[in-house]
Amino acid sequence: MKVAVFSAKPYDRKFLTAANIDHAHELVFLEARLTPETAALAGGFPAVCAFINDQLNQQTLGAIAASGTELIALRAAGFNNVDLQAASELNLTIVRVPEYSPYAVAEHAVGLILMLNRKLNKAYNRVRDDNFALDGLLGFDLHGSTVGVIGTGKIGQIFCQIMTGFGCHVLAYDPYPNPACLEMGVEYRTLPDLLATADIISLHCPLMPETYHLLDQQSLSHLKPGAMVINTSRGGLIDTKAVIKAIKTGQIGYLGIDVYEQEENLFFEDWSNTVVQDDDIQRLQSFNNVVITAHQAFFTREALTNIAKTTMISLTQFERGEACEYQIHQRQFGKA
Ligand code: NAI
Repeated sequence: MKVAVFSAKPYDRKFLTAANIDHAHELVFLEARLTPETAALAGGFPAVCAFINDQLNQQTLGAIAASGTELIALRAAGFNNVDLQAASELNLTIVRVPEYSPYAVAEHAVGLILMLNRKLNKAYNRVRDDNFALDGLLGFDLHGSTVGVIGTGKIGQIFCQIMTGFGCHVLAYDPYPNPACLEMGVEYRTLPDLLATADIISLHCPLMPETYHLLDQQSLSHLKPGAMVINTSRGGLIDTKAVIKAIKTGQIGYLGIDVYEQEENLFFEDWSNTVVQDDDIQRLQSFNNVVITAHQAFFTREALTNIAKTTMISLTQFERGEACEYQIHQRQFGKA
């Protein structure tokens, strides 16, 4: 089947091409992001393969459906960038990769915690500069600290497991408690209780209308003063402007983010030769207790291999007219 692969980077080309050996689809790699303006590039392709910052809104979906696309294969787990209602009305099939490596994301969240706590970024630069002083690098033991996990699905569960291994007291909030987490001793609490109690809060829930700005000015005011906030899930879960204020007052003591509310026009590209116009990310970067990575939590060999394999399976199932195992059903998830 002819597939237009949007937002294709060299690593996408490498892993998708390797996984395609057993499937023999005709993959056409396009560097462009899929937006209403670039939708014409999908003309004549029955399938489109898209990534997280592709704009799968009503306008794009309408345009690609009109030019013959029937399947959208997301090489991601999250699908908050897809208008599921529009896709359903246009009879477009949407598939995703629900699980590729929960370890990749959970381990990255832990990496951010360690970096912020032990100030590894500063320590690395200091030593490179022959400055061997320790002032300003004081951290705290993770052992015995309280970690609050919001969302205990596949990634949250692994994160709980790792933090339990560190000897942390792990609390969680999730409308659907996970039996595996209960078994490892995780205590479920209400959201306000978790926010008020945890030294470290890590977000692992999806972005949906109900979770948009889950951490806003109001909820942030309940945090234990000086708490650490980690977000490897989706930028829209936190209100960036409210977070900036909370960092300035000291309500947030440390912030580690792999995702950013306005990442769509920034991440996955090199802007180092231009002046970035996004004032919020520039403000965040000015704080010495903030660490930002550019949506790389998923970026491991294992994850990319699994993403590519699952995507090929979906393309082949669709081409053969079989039920797509990884299809997103609008009735199941509502409007994302
Ligand atoms: P999952 O679907 O296995 O787990 C999500 C959990 O969130 C479920 O247990 C669900 O009950 C819970 N949840 C739903 N609504 C909630 C709410 N209002 N409050 C608290 N919890 C709620 O998803 P998985 O695989 O664990 O992924 C979680 C998120 O991680 C994804 O939605 C995606 O946004 C993000 N992600 C980020 C990546 C990165 O590279 N930074 C890569 C992959 C996923």
